[in-house]
Amino acid sequence: MSSKSSTNFSSPDGLVESPFRLAAADMLPQSSGPIPSPHFPLPNAMRSETEASFSDEPFSIPVADRVKRLPPYLFGKINKLKHKKRQDGIDVIDLGMGNPTDPPEQFIIDKMIESLSDARNHRYSVSNGVENLRREVAKRYDRKYGVKLNAASEVIACIGSKEGFSHMCLALMGPGDTAIVPAPTFPIHSYSVMLASGNVIALDVRKPDEFLSNIAYTCEHLFPKPKLVIVNFPHNPSGTCIEQDFYVDLVALAKKYGFLVISDFAYADICYDNYKAPSFLATPGAIDIGVELTTMSKGYSMAGWRIGYCCGNAEMVRALGTIKGYYDYGIFQAIQISAIVAMRHGDESIDRLCEEYQRRRDVLVDGLTRQGWEIEAPKAGMFVWAKVPEPWAEMGSINFAMKLLNEAGVAVSPGRGFGEEGEGYLRLAIVENAQRLRQAVREIGRCLKPESAVA
Ligand SMILES: Cc1ncc(COP(=O)(O)O)c(C=O)c1O
Repeated sequence: MSSKSSTNFSSPDGLVESPFRLAAADMLPQSSGPIPSPHFPLPNAMRSETEASFSDEPFSIPVADRVKRLPPYLFGKINKLKHKKRQDGIDVIDLGMGNPTDPPEQFIIDKMIESLSDARNHRYSVSNGVENLRREVAKRYDRKYGVKLNAASEVIACIGSKEGFSHMCLALMGPGDTAIVPAPTFPIHSYSVMLASGNVIALDVRKPDEFLSNIAYTCEHLFPKPKLVIVNFPHNPSGTCIEQDFYVDLVALAKKYGFLVISDFAYADICYDNYKAPSFLATPGAIDIGVELTTMSKGYSMAGWRIGYCCGNAEMVRALGTIKGYYDYGIFQAIQISAIVAMRHGDESIDRLCEEYQRRRDVLVDGLTRQGWEIEAPKAGMFVWAKVPEPWAEMGSINFAMKLLNEAGVAVSPGRGFGEEGEGYLRLAIVENAQRLRQAVREIGRCLKPESAVA
């Protein structure tokens, strides 16, 4: 019997026949003996840190054009240095990423442990999210924003909101389509459009009224008109916030010019000073033209669990579901069950978390302001967006961030990493506790003081 005919082509998971298995078997030498086991060496040493998997090196293998079209990754240099310092045993106060250092509430972890013991939870789940989870998301929207959603057709669970966001772009965009994205730009807002072969127009969001009139202007003058407008309030990185009126105007523009809207509402839960971030979906007519992404990464400190939601227009949700149906088998069911419990019983813990983030915000903003930095305290989100102080403005945000990392041991994100509009600024994530933030302020002050005096 030839090696080919002895190969079992039925898939071990009983789902699909893999063309790759057939191709691999075809490549093996034809012999009557046992099939030799090929040895494929691992291409690289395993990388231990998330950021280490990014590189600013050019691609040297002939990757697809959609990958080549991506702009250089501007955080590469700083991430490499941070990684190196950690390897050398140097304590880095990491304010670089909005990656919460706090664990989720204990009742969520307990539910997860209990769910792990149930054998039924270890199978593939459904790609859209289990029914009870989608129902809980709908209930939460009603409770928080007065938005009534049909859990079956207007809610879908995602492997983190970033996955849902990027696959939604893939579902909507193609060659020749244009999306308006917020500037400064959270990288995935433009990368997802580019990966879907679409074009990007980045408009400054820091003055929301001007952002709206620039959307209208672009729609009047561009042909074909933009197909999609991406909004993200509370905004990462600038912390810009809006009120519900903004969405009323946006929906009116969308209906006038015929564009779709994706609202990235990742920082919905993290608000301060009695500000309540409005939901796009709470605007009359919003559901006719758009969707909104929410996440459990921030308000529930479940970033590593990878769970978020896309809600809104049923056709858009269905398109995302179709793409996801091909790409994934859903979120680990134990996580979905824990997420249901988190949403049912977690409102108070979100309030406590907001108080904690507000304390941290105040430590950082007050401390740096005392040193002469120009900062507006954000009303929401997990970031402080700070102007590079005058004596160092000329060196550019990337070099200034490298200096803070090298000389103060504090990692921050340079504004330039969020596009040209971010130049001149730094983004500092308030993910470390208040004591560490005080230490960061002290170290920054110590590192800049002598030069400031000279300048
Ligand atoms: C604006 C924005 N959108 C989306 C995400 C991704 O969130 P998730 O963890 O749900 O994928 C983040 C994470 O930092 C973010 O800042």
